[in-house]
Amino acid sequence: MMLHIRGKPALMLASILIYRISHTQCLTRPPANDASTNCSGVTENLSAAHATIRSGESADAKGNVFFLHIPRTAGRTYYFCFLKLATPPSRRCEKSYDVLRLNSSLADCGLLGSHDDLSVLRFLPHDTAVVTQLRNPVDRILSAYEFIVEVAVRKWLRTKPGKKPKAKRTSTRDVWPWSYLVPWMEEDMTRRRARPGTEGSPGADPYDNSLYMPLAQFVEEPMVQELLHNGASLQVVGATNYTHWEDAHAVRACVGGGGLGRAQEQLQEAAIARLETFAHVGLMEDLDGSILSLAASVGLKLDGPAWKAGLDAFEKREDGRVEQVKPDGDYLHPAQLGKAHQACVARARQKAVRRKAESMRMLALPGGGHVEFSKASRAALDPALIQRIRELNAVDEALWQHGKLLHAKQLQEHKQEGRLASVMAGKNTREGNAGARERRGSDELKRRLQAHEQHSRRKHTRSRAKSSH
Ligand SMILES: *[C@@H]1O[C@H](CO)[C@@H](O)[C@H](O)[C@H]1NC(C)=O
Ligand SMILES: *[C@@H]1O[C@H](CO)[C@@H](O)[C@H](O)[C@H]1NC(C)=O
Ligand SMILES: *[C@@H]1O[C@H](CO)[C@@H](O)[C@H](O)[C@H]1NC(C)=O
Ligand SMILES: *[C@@H]1O[C@H](CO)[C@@H](O)[C@H](O)[C@H]1NC(C)=O
Repeated sequence: MMLHIRGKPALMLASILIYRISHTQCLTRPPANDASTNCSGVTENLSAAHATIRSGESADAKGNVFFLHIPRTAGRTYYFCFLKLATPPSRRCEKSYDVLRLNSSLADCGLLGSHDDLSVLRFLPHDTAVVTQLRNPVDRILSAYEFIVEVAVRKWLRTKPGKKPKAKRTSTRDVWPWSYLVPWMEEDMTRRRARPGTEGSPGADPYDNSLYMPLAQFVEEPMVQELLHNGASLQVVGATNYTHWEDAHAVRACVGGGGLGRAQEQLQEAAIARLETFAHVGLMEDLDGSILSLAASVGLKLDGPAWKAGLDAFEKREDGRVEQVKPDGDYLHPAQLGKAHQACVARARQKAVRRKAESMRMLALPGGGHVEFSKASRAALDPALIQRIRELNAVDEALWQHGKLLHAKQLQEHKQEGRLASVMAGKNTREGNAGARERRGSDELKRRLQAHEQHSRRKHTRSRAKSSH
């Protein structure tokens, strides 16, 4: 079974022109200046933008899916190793991580995944279901920092003779936000390399050493404010630095600087309201449960078919449109979706570990020895720095907390409706007394969720009162 894509032709995006949005070209504008921005308009603008774009609340009977990929949330596991595998080549939109390629995609494509924010929905059919995955914002920022360092170091790996870049693969350096953050980090490293040992702390602390920008400095940089802090919330409302919404820069200018002031609260409300309309919200902290919930939300079964990469299934015509020249059947995976997913995840993890080790070996400390990111080094981070990161991402913290509730609720609903059983065993257990029993169980869960919500709202009000003195 594929992604419940029935009835009308999927994304009617096909069309005439090749459309390659280069965000840096189309939307470059000077960053708004806090002092000159009237921040009381943020809510109005956010709700105005909300009025014109909407997300589908369920993939059922609709079929088009947009995976709103918040960077560093295990999107690979979600998208490449699940949604994409579950979708035959003819239904996949052209890869769009570096630039959006909707107009050059197949007419019938119904699965898009990218780092685009919600504003991309203006190019998609009205009933497109949005699915996303959230993560503890402190972990997300740490992971982004480590990733940026890792990729920046590859600069020296890359220039090793005999290393050719692989064709057809999208380079991380072309993918927002790494397209800005990696060259920036590279520059910093190059500078330090030219004068070894003169900057930063000696020693092998991976978050504070002389080889690259320390974490404590990184999180305070305007570049990181623009591209990472509260990035999940900004992406969910469609106001990132990579947006198709022209007025988004003013929103970012108003919510920068951390904490929960009025503008941040408005963003938080808008993000939570928007999240509620998504067809599925997963949590990186419960990856397995999230994949099951995702499958149930978009109507996939673990014992259903999977399809391999279908790169040579397509040919580009003169006018830029893509034509399928080999049938989907040629790409059927020998394994069922669940097995194919697991194999894909295992392969991707191995590769990530290998690449990370390979990169970090390039970083030799002046006095000898190497730095390495590890669970232990994370655990040893200064609690005050962690607290600072949390504060700079206060809106995302609230969104993540809400995401946890939504995830639990969605899982429970899928269970209650028999969809989880159907995902796992291919059979439907909706009927009978069991259903009523589960419904009672779910009423209980709902009560608990409401109690929890009230509790966290009270807590939130208290901490807000504290943070505004
Ligand atoms: C996005 O951020 C980068 C880096 O700060 C900046 O150069 C660029 O102009 C920004 N783009 C938009 C659309 O604001
Ligand atoms: C700021 O915007 C609000 C609402 O958009 C408006 O009522 C107010 O007059 C504006 N203030 C300034 C100083 O421009
Ligand atoms: C709101 O949108 C208007 C134009 O639609 C823009 O001029 C203004 O800067 C925006 N204000 C904020 C705070 O986003
Ligand atoms: C696709 O092409 C049409 C014009 O043919 C254009 O209006 C639209 O903005 C383009 N972009 C996307 C993302 O579909």
